[in-house]
Amino acid sequence: MVSSDQVFALVQSHSEGDDSQFYSVAMQVAAKEARAGRAKFAQELRDLVDQVRVQSPVTPRVAPVTPLVLPRGDVASLLSVSYPDARLSDLVLAPEVGDAIETLLLEQRQRDMLARHGLTPSRRVLLIGPPGTGKTFTAHMIAGELGLPLFVIRFDALITKFMGETAAKLRLVFDELAETRGVYLFDEVDALAGDRGMSNDVGEIRRVLNSFLLFLESDASDSIILAATNHPRLLDPAVFRRFDSVIRFPLPDEDAARAVVQNRLSGFNLSSISWPRVLEAAVGLSHAEICVAAENAAKRAVLTRKSRIVTDSLVAALQGRPRKRSEGSGGD
Ligand SMILES: Nc1ncnc2c1ncn2[C@@H]1O[C@H](COP(=O)(O)OP(=O)(O)O)[C@@H](O)[C@H]1O
Ligand SMILES: [Mg+2]
Repeated sequence: MVSSDQVFALVQSHSEGDDSQFYSVAMQVAAKEARAGRAKFAQELRDLVDQVRVQSPVTPRVAPVTPLVLPRGDVASLLSVSYPDARLSDLVLAPEVGDAIETLLLEQRQRDMLARHGLTPSRRVLLIGPPGTGKTFTAHMIAGELGLPLFVIRFDALITKFMGETAAKLRLVFDELAETRGVYLFDEVDALAGDRGMSNDVGEIRRVLNSFLLFLESDASDSIILAATNHPRLLDPAVFRRFDSVIRFPLPDEDAARAVVQNRLSGFNLSSISWPRVLEAAVGLSHAEICVAAENAAKRAVLTRKSRIVTDSLVAALQGRPRKRSEGSGGD
């Protein structure tokens, strides 16, 4: 009779995918049966083992190579992954924005401690503000600070003419988000509200946005979900309620504008700059536009072999940048 040890060994080797061990135990069973006088059964078992061994040659077990975190399958085309190294200090943030982000980072870093007290860190955050105020950059920075991968949802791949398909893809994204902890950025999330010039009917579009909101609400993962938008008015008020917090990014004030210039031009001599003139020229520009203007002034200086940035050059560069006509200051 087959011993319980042998049954155990069979099941174990099968579960480990260890074919050679599996067949060797089967052969031991055959030998035992032969000794016990059941020659016919023993021979049939040996024959069977020989036969299946040929059909499935014993392949050495090689652990499948899984890249650290790379979405696989259908979801791969919906997300782009990166490992940003941006830091909080790379950004110039309004004090209330900086506070909100530091709180988010602290809660994430101490999430085990919070969990021991039955508390969960906030992790669903809506970032609102005019273009170029650092919303996308903030998502990179949060991933960089927490050492997590950043997954950016690719709306071009997500949103199709077929709303049912879009909702199914959205589900894949939320499945992935529950499986792999990371920072997931729905950038320019107003795209989900359907302002894409596609001739979808309004009821269908609402359904996609609603399914996003339902996924958001029922999501119990450890991932951080960031949604960013320049158009808060396009978003349903219902959207706001599904987030743990809403962070509003204002255009830079004078202090912020000066800090952006100084950060960008840290390698240059700024001792002769007349700040009142520069700051006046920066009014109404976003952080991003001020960065570009500072870079342009720096290039002028380099190309004319000067290490000093002069006020006129910086002012001219700032005046050459587009500014928003009506800021709306991120309110809704
Ligand atoms: N608050 C900021 N502090 C420093 N640099 C900024 C800030 N906001 C924007 N920038 C610069 O402008 C670039 C574009 O900003 P981005 O984050 O894409 O703006 P948004 O997503 O709000 O439109 C950034 O990569 C960065 O170089
Ligand atoms: Mg952006």
